[in-house]
Amino acid sequence: MGWNSWNKFQCDVDEQIIRAMADAMATNGMKDAGYQYINIDDCWQGQRDVQGFIQPDPKKFPSGMKALADYVHGKGLKFGLYSDAGAKTCGGRLASRGHEYQDALTYAQWGVDYLKYDWCGCEDLNAKGAYTTMRDALHAAGRPMVFSMCEWGQNKPWHWAEDIGHSWRTTADIYPAFDGALEHGSWQQWSVLKILDAQKPLRVFAGPGHWNDPDMLEVGNGMTVSEDRAHFSMWCMLCAPLISGNDLAHMKPEVLQIFTNPEVIAVNQDKFGVQAFVYSTNANVEIWFKPLAGGDWAMCALNRGKQSQNTSFDWKNEKVGDALSKRDANFSVTTYALQNLWTHQPAGTTADVLSAEIPGHDLLMLRLKENGTALDAGAQKNHPH
Ligand code: GLA
Repeated sequence: MGWNSWNKFQCDVDEQIIRAMADAMATNGMKDAGYQYINIDDCWQGQRDVQGFIQPDPKKFPSGMKALADYVHGKGLKFGLYSDAGAKTCGGRLASRGHEYQDALTYAQWGVDYLKYDWCGCEDLNAKGAYTTMRDALHAAGRPMVFSMCEWGQNKPWHWAEDIGHSWRTTADIYPAFDGALEHGSWQQWSVLKILDAQKPLRVFAGPGHWNDPDMLEVGNGMTVSEDRAHFSMWCMLCAPLISGNDLAHMKPEVLQIFTNPEVIAVNQDKFGVQAFVYSTNANVEIWFKPLAGGDWAMCALNRGKQSQNTSFDWKNEKVGDALSKRDANFSVTTYALQNLWTHQPAGTTADVLSAEIPGHDLLMLRLKENGTALDAGAQKNHPH
């Protein structure tokens, strides 16, 4: 959980902005909610010195990276940087090809805790080889760092990167839109729903220490409150890295409330670490389930459409099973207590039919608590499993 400069500031990043974001995160409730990392994305780089050591852009970072990392650490937070496996970053700055061990050493000396490693200009490189080289370089540098692979899913890293990166991007870059895609000729940007759909077949590859990364959050960057809430909730259902990407020093209270909802964050951070799946679809409403540690479940009824939709779910006729986690929930046998994670109110039990009107581009998010009572002993006997 953290923040990254790219989605809001792109290349207009400097040490004042980074300090301001660290100040905001440390005092606005985000740090208390679990956010830790302050990550600088592309365009911090200046030149290499005569020995080849990378220097920050002296105009943007006149105090140097060590001083900035110290500042962030002084707030009780962690510090992240960005590089790329090619010769140049996507923003055209110097990248790490041929300097991997030297750069890793530099990052360790600066006090870097997190490296996002991009894939521009790498057409002639083997992805597994390039990411393995940087992993080994970071290891040799001796400072623990989160290694965030940003190869956009081009070489299907979920098949080979479990022991290389802590997370891997799965798609093209996000932009602040709920539906659709933005064409740029040679590349695209993808909306929340388009990225969400691409995660569905990938859940079997994710788990503690090796996560699918559906890209950084666009919460607070221009979508509606409903869309921000649905985006955040679904990224929590996906066990995604929660990297905010807005201006933390100037955000509306309703945006901060989304970022700091403890019950929704608990779904993201749940120790069982199993990515959610779609259980059923009714017109525009998708019903998602995520098994949680200790027998609970999270459930979302996501309205993908623009119009509000009435939905009803008769629990007693539903049987949720997940071969991946070997968990099931048979609501005709076991009754779960329901908690609405956005209103923070109890919402009845699975003994009653759930009916709700879900606004367009919004969702209902529930936690099912297993300590609900069994319906009756006789019913259980008729259902041996
Ligand atoms: C790529 C990445 C983005 C961002 C930019 C920076 O597009 O996917 O997340 O890091 O590069 O140039």
